Amino acid sequence: MPKMVGIILAAGKGTRMKSKLPKALHPICGKPMTRYVVDACIESGIGNCVVVIGHGADQVRTGLGEDVLYAIQEEQLGTGDACKQGLGPVDDTIDSVLVTPGDTPLITSDILSALSNAHNTQGNSATVLTAVLDDAGSYGRIVRNADDSVESIVEAKDASDEQKKIREINTGIYCFKLDELKKYLGNLTPANAQKEYYLTDVIGMMVADGLKVGAVVSPDPEIILGVNNRVDLASLTTIIRRRILNRLMLDGVTIVDPSSTYVDWDVQAGADTIIYPGSVLEKGTKIGEDCIVGPYTRLINVEIGNGVTVSYSTATDSSIGDESRVGPFANIRANCKLGRKVKMGDFVETKNTVLEDRVSMGHLAYVGDAVIGEHTNIGAGVITCNYDGFDKHRTIVGKEVFLGSDVTLVAPINIADESFIAAGSTITDDVPENALAIARSKQIVKEGWAKTFREKKKK
Ligand code: UD1
Ligand code: CA
Repeated sequence: MPKMVGIILAAGKGTRMKSKLPKALHPICGKPMTRYVVDACIESGIGNCVVVIGHGADQVRTGLGEDVLYAIQEEQLGTGDACKQGLGPVDDTIDSVLVTPGDTPLITSDILSALSNAHNTQGNSATVLTAVLDDAGSYGRIVRNADDSVESIVEAKDASDEQKKIREINTGIYCFKLDELKKYLGNLTPANAQKEYYLTDVIGMMVADGLKVGAVVSPDPEIILGVNNRVDLASLTTIIRRRILNRLMLDGVTIVDPSSTYVDWDVQAGADTIIYPGSVLEKGTKIGEDCIVGPYTRLINVEIGNGVTVSYSTATDSSIGDESRVGPFANIRANCKLGRKVKMGDFVETKNTVLEDRVSMGHLAYVGDAVIGEHTNIGAGVITCNYDGFDKHRTIVGKEVFLGSDVTLVAPINIADESFIAAGSTITDDVPENALAIARSKQIVKEGWAKTFREKKKK
């Protein structure tokens, strides 16, 4: 196989996004837009990629990752100049380059492979990926000769009325033989409507010099769509979201209503898991088999075992063990670890907490900075007082402990195994194993008091 490098053009500002964030980094389903292009290049078998950056270069670099090379284009003088900068880190052992814009996140590794295969097997100097659109809009037009070979590419702004009628457009994705591309990039001039160095002019110049230029027509015009503004961003997000959901469904996950289910690109879910409407599953989330997620559940970077149910709840940066039940209306904040068969009911909140296997936390409780031992019961209204206004303190509760309703545990505190804490207690001292702790005022009963009180009032 001839050696090929990918050149991804992403130095433009993306003015029409009207954003402080560089266009390349606008996320689609949890991944920066230009990273989709990088991944498609890598998946298609292209060894190395060079991303050409300019606006917000440092930020783009950090956002896209360090597994690709970068070239800086100081001034945005056009795609021809951007491509020239992109060749900076490319050495002469490379045969051809694949050039693509960084704002076309729908492109697939399949179409890039088809393009590079055609380029290599036909022995072309350049091969351009084209598409046929109903409305060619502002895309560059592919002008063909009488024998159907490519003659040149004309930008919409430079096109004659006759050329504007052409429906075959330039996708901005091409393969070029490296040595020839270098030569022609040096010959470009900005003599056009936009006063830019057009990469597209290389095609016409090569044809005029008798070099072999081929074209591959994309079977799916949709995959070359680009993002120019946030309306495009939303419509492409819908397409990518659907691709992600289709992947999960084909892997055996039931998605009851794809139109109201939002899943990031890297989320995994096992066979026979059912995802109900209104679920938002974000970056890093991994769900096992036979789970029921949703309705109305948001999971951000959460790892879930098998046979787990989570409904009407949110969880972040945490894990939930096999056969646990969470919700409705639980809020699992960062750094929680729920063991197996944990029961977590309604209106409970946990933060930085371990709940060992079979802990039950039925309703209305807050547990933070704590470890709760196996099979311990957390009654309604149990609160860990983990914060003294300055520092956070830990609560350690052993196994098989019974925390009665409305118990407050003033941390730091240790409640040993198999102890009982009476309802309504405010516990400030450690409790030893097997003990009962009661910390509340003794009840007073005044016989007949209520009757006397009522009669006095009636007079
Ligand atoms: C370009 C093509 C057009 C094609 C279209 C497909 C040219 C002259 N025209 O037009 O034929 O139909 O793409 O989407 O190439 N960029 C830089 N530096 C620059 C200029 C652009 O890095 O100096 C990058 C942009 O960030 C963008 C890509 O190149 O990712 C394309 O640039 P853009 O200005 O959007 O080109 P189009 O006008 O869309
Ligand atoms: Ca564009």
